[in-house]
Amino acid sequence: MGISVGIVGVGSFGPQFIKLFKVHPNVDRLALCDLKPDRLSRCSKEYQVSETYSSLDDICKSDLDALAIFTQHWMHAPQAIQAMKAGKHVYTAVPAARSLDECHNLVETVKETGLVYMNGETSFFRPDAAFCRKKAEEGAFGEFVHFQAEYFHDISHGLYEVAKNRWGDQWDRDKTGGIPMYYPTHSTCFPISVMKAHMTSVSAQGYIYPNDDWFRQDTISENRFSNQIGLFTMSNGSTARIAEFRRIGHQETERISAIYGTEASFEQNDSGAMWMNKNSMEEVTLTKKHEPLPDMLASDLGGHGGSHAYLVHEFVDSVSKERLPRINVWQAVRYCTPGFVAHESALKDGELLKIPDWGTPPN
Ligand SMILES: NC(=O)c1ccc[n+]([C@@H]2O[C@H](COP(=O)([O-])OP(=O)(O)OC[C@H]3O[C@@H](n4cnc5c(N)ncnc54)[C@H](O)[C@@H]3O)[C@@H](O)[C@H]2O)c1
Repeated sequence: MGISVGIVGVGSFGPQFIKLFKVHPNVDRLALCDLKPDRLSRCSKEYQVSETYSSLDDICKSDLDALAIFTQHWMHAPQAIQAMKAGKHVYTAVPAARSLDECHNLVETVKETGLVYMNGETSFFRPDAAFCRKKAEEGAFGEFVHFQAEYFHDISHGLYEVAKNRWGDQWDRDKTGGIPMYYPTHSTCFPISVMKAHMTSVSAQGYIYPNDDWFRQDTISENRFSNQIGLFTMSNGSTARIAEFRRIGHQETERISAIYGTEASFEQNDSGAMWMNKNSMEEVTLTKKHEPLPDMLASDLGGHGGSHAYLVHEFVDSVSKERLPRINVWQAVRYCTPGFVAHESALKDGELLKIPDWGTPPN
């Protein structure tokens, strides 16, 4: 018998996952939920899902096994905790949390409830991450020396509209800005998942765009940095450089730009990817098809480098088998915490700061 899943939040991003959950062979029943009746009825009709709920409170009272939450990014941790306390297995979109306290509460709730929690970090299943993870598992890099990853997304590439849409009626000039390092998970996921190591300390810097009208002190984020860059020490002795740039004359990218090992290295830019060692260098063709998937999902992998289908399968499979997902809560908070501390460091002109850690899953 399959599982039952409710999708909470059918704004811009959530609908991209409805079909994938619907066609998954281990999902027997699917429901949709949103505070906005127009969005709910549009998705209900378009995807032919008749079971609907008008709020998270409401769907938490249902007998559904699991909830996949795609609400605004500042709501994820409290809503995940509410859903787990109501007995639901939970998936949330990124970021998992918005503060160190939220990270702590999330981990404690997973430990208390014993339910499946997974975070939908799209970078985990991107082709470059999958390729480099495989090379790392084969030991091909030797010892890791240094890692570089970045999320470049100029604010004028759709992000003004995203912010206005997410705030809706509450939109105002004080809601602009947003701390780049508070949304670092598309980058931090790469070194953490490839090297199986986590960040232990950071020295970071910020860039202030002249006369910036978006990143300002008089907003709820009280943040003037449009771009932030951090140099991290890693638990395996290597270093990592993460760049979160929101003012940049560049097309959008979320990628690994370099991994240097003592035996071999990987480099990538907009022209392609290279694998090299001390004597030779070869071009790499990265593929979106890097893991087996049920046929119905394999035919249309979805967005963000084809990661959507893998995310849905990883969650459904984890709930069905009651196993730990690869992007479990201990991983998910390791993707977030480096950013919170990096922002603190940037405010202190690069002071080296320690990064707290909640460890690994209990056996
Ligand atoms: N690559 C990625 O991983 C990626 C890309 C895009 C968006 N996202 C994430 O997806 C999330 C959603 O983004 P979006 O642009 O679709 O936002 P959105 O504002 O368009 O949609 C969010 C929806 O959640 C609903 N909602 C909020 N609280 C609710 C509640 N209590 N009960 C029921 N419904 C509720 C809202 O009414 C809204 O329709 C964000 O958190 C964002 O960070 C991730």
